[in-house]
Amino acid sequence: DKNIVVAIDGYSSCGKSTLAKALAKKLHFIYVDSGAMYRAVTLYFLRNETSLKDHDVIIDALEHIDLNFHSRDYQTHILLNGEEVSDEIRQMPVSENVSAIAAIKEVRMQMVKKQQKMGKSKNIVMDGRDIGTTVFPNAQIKFFMTADPKIRAERRYNELSIKGEKVSLEEIFENIAHRDFQDTTREESPLIRADDAIILDNTNLTEQQQLEFALEKIKPFL
Ligand code: C5P
Repeated sequence: DKNIVVAIDGYSSCGKSTLAKALAKKLHFIYVDSGAMYRAVTLYFLRNETSLKDHDVIIDALEHIDLNFHSRDYQTHILLNGEEVSDEIRQMPVSENVSAIAAIKEVRMQMVKKQQKMGKSKNIVMDGRDIGTTVFPNAQIKFFMTADPKIRAERRYNELSIKGEKVSLEEIFENIAHRDFQDTTREESPLIRADDAIILDNTNLTEQQQLEFALEKIKPFL
């Protein structure tokens, strides 16, 4: 039997990873956070003080970046050249620069290759921006998530505040809007709903309601 792929795409801070993790846990699928990969690559270049405009240098350096996932309790732990960077990649410096890095064609090609490998023979849930369109165009189930931008900013604000990061709601709102703009207008696999993706607007839905909605759609494939 063919393995099952659940693709979840959508705007920034829409709760994609929350739903993806809940689904993976419930179905005993593997969860892959594709955004974490672009974030870790971005962190690498920020640390090396590489000019993010210098695409040639970035492309040449990609071979020195080793990314690995560790799944524990359905939390994704990402290792950048062996170092756990799961918290650091969520901080503002990375959030502010990741969309520029993710727009580079060669960066995307390498990440997509890794992602496709991970979903080759296992049941997985993967979230991102181009999973249903580019990474797994043949995924059995695709969701496209959206939510009111103000609600999204508030959710992300609460998440970061709990972790003690000093950042304003306004800053987060701006960052989300800016990333959505960059992600939807870039040349290489821009964020767009796949024709066969099910829209899930979770502005007024609880996490439990979203999970139930998604499970209902996936049921026929199990
Ligand atoms: O999902 P997350 O918000 O962590 O993703 C961070 C950024 O990585 C996005 O704003 C986007 O620029 C990029 N990304 C992407 N393609 C993916 C996942 C993330 O371009 N599949």
